Amino acid sequence: ARTVVIDTDPGIDDAVAILLALKSAEFDVRGITTVAGNIGIATTTRNAGRILALENRADVPVVSGAAGPLSRKGFDTTEIHGNDGLGGVAFPEPLAPVAGNDAPAWLAKLLDELPTGSLDILALGPLTNIARLVQDHPASAKRIGRVIAMGGAVHEPGNIGPRAEFNIAADPEAAEIVFAAGLNFTLIPLDVTRKVRATRDYTAALQATSVPAAKASGELIDAYFQSTTGGESRPLHDPCVMLFALDKKLFGCEPLKIAVDTGTTRDAGALTIDDEKGAAISVAMKVDGEGALKLQFERLVG
Ligand code: BDR
Ligand code: CA
Repeated sequence: ARTVVIDTDPGIDDAVAILLALKSAEFDVRGITTVAGNIGIATTTRNAGRILALENRADVPVVSGAAGPLSRKGFDTTEIHGNDGLGGVAFPEPLAPVAGNDAPAWLAKLLDELPTGSLDILALGPLTNIARLVQDHPASAKRIGRVIAMGGAVHEPGNIGPRAEFNIAADPEAAEIVFAAGLNFTLIPLDVTRKVRATRDYTAALQATSVPAAKASGELIDAYFQSTTGGESRPLHDPCVMLFALDKKLFGCEPLKIAVDTGTTRDAGALTIDDEKGAAISVAMKVDGEGALKLQFERLVG
């Protein structure tokens, strides 16, 4: 199994992604680090504990991190993710107290203890904690195996601004730091996550199982149907990070040099392909949506 830490702001689709990881034998989940994003840090942290409790995973530590972006004000997305961040879906209370409150330092310590290149970070929220890790613990950050992060829109329109996607727009400075850090980094943008879509039939099939993680995922995606408008299906953004880590063949990646808009207009956080930029990152631009949905279903139910 691959050793991973999930950095996340749960969040409805974060919750589905975390359950998917916990249900996949390919991952040894060493911890969950939390960041403010979809909702404030106290709630994202509590939610991480609640999701772990559903799977009886008191052994997985939750460490809280950034309470807001590196240098700007956070967003409020309670309309989409609900006042509790999980669309009102029932979860048990956390089994264990929070294990720490300095996620970047905790990650650095874990990286230093493990062999170089053996820890992957699956990043589902604003990149604030990872940017702090890179800035404050550079030698430890060099020991990361790979970072796979949901964020951005390359050719697609954005979801928080005309060209800006939420995770990058929430902390564009953090994204710029992480993209430039020379990490083994894969970005999973809206260009692919919008092609991995759950229908009502899919959520009904999940809910029809007697498997807690699958039932909860069906309920979470249904809550997402209720809070967003339009269409017969809903995109599964954050689970795509886990699906990429599980089976890269489902995706097609391109090395791209990416500039981040760090201005203060509605395009803050927008991405532009810019060949003048230093290092290329790997960006997923294609996906087998049906294959991804099938793999997710098998793992959640299994
Ligand atoms: C991203 O923003 C958040 O609201 C979701 O959890 C996902 O990480 C999609 O743009
Ligand atoms: Ca998220």
